[in-house]
Amino acid sequence: MKIIFIGPPGSGKGTQAKRIAAEHGIPHISTGDILREAVAEGTELGKKAAPTMASGGLVPDDLMIGIINDRLGKADARKGFILDGFPRTVVQAEKLDGIVGNGTEKLRVVQLLVPDEAIVKRIALRRSCPQCGAIYHLENQPPANDNVCDKDGAELVARPDDTEAAVRKRLEAFHRQTMPVTSFYKTKSWLREVDGTGPVDQVFERIQRSLV
Ligand code: AP5
Repeated sequence: MKIIFIGPPGSGKGTQAKRIAAEHGIPHISTGDILREAVAEGTELGKKAAPTMASGGLVPDDLMIGIINDRLGKADARKGFILDGFPRTVVQAEKLDGIVGNGTEKLRVVQLLVPDEAIVKRIALRRSCPQCGAIYHLENQPPANDNVCDKDGAELVARPDDTEAAVRKRLEAFHRQTMPVTSFYKTKSWLREVDGTGPVDQVFERIQRSLV
């Protein structure tokens, strides 16, 4: 199964993609996670991407396409994948067609619909594990023990791009650069729009139904 998740920042792409990946036995490929790892390791890619990410802008297409080309070439992605955060521009979507080739008719594109007001509340209280990437929300999905990851005990952190100014810019980038990607997939009839509001379990059920 080849799945793409599209949605504004904080719409639950990461939360749901991890569950869907586990359910279907396919790798969860998050371009945001790949970039954050590169930043943490101080690689050339990380150094190039860090300032853009911190400000809430989009990293250049050529860098992102190179990352995805390499990642989808790995053996575990042959049986399928879930892409979280890619493609984010029409150029990326067109290049992805070229990378996945003739199998694209099997691509399922899920757009999570969440209003901007809800996004701001979700992101303000998001915390994540710097070691395993688990995602929490201090009210909706709190860890069992204060500020500590349930899985590995690491101290949870807020993301550096979750400042109010960066979130505003990420939302603006979503509406201006990523919404045209949904039109691109709508014309191919691959787009499934899913209500991303309400409890996490309910959203998961809606996504599962949309994938049939
Ligand atoms: P990326 O990491 O992809 O960030 P994003 O798209 O802004 O999305 P988020 O990770 O913020 O949110 P999410 O939708 O995964 O929500 P989550 O599940 O965490 O990208 C970061 C940056 O990298 C970009 O800004 C850009 O600079 C760069 N980048 C990445 N890909 C790129 C590309 N292809 N091209 C160019 N640049 C690229 O949930 C959010 C919170 O809500 C959590 O606290 C969660 O617990 C909570 N929550 C989840 N579901 C629910 C629910 N149903 N009800 C209540 N709360 C919920």
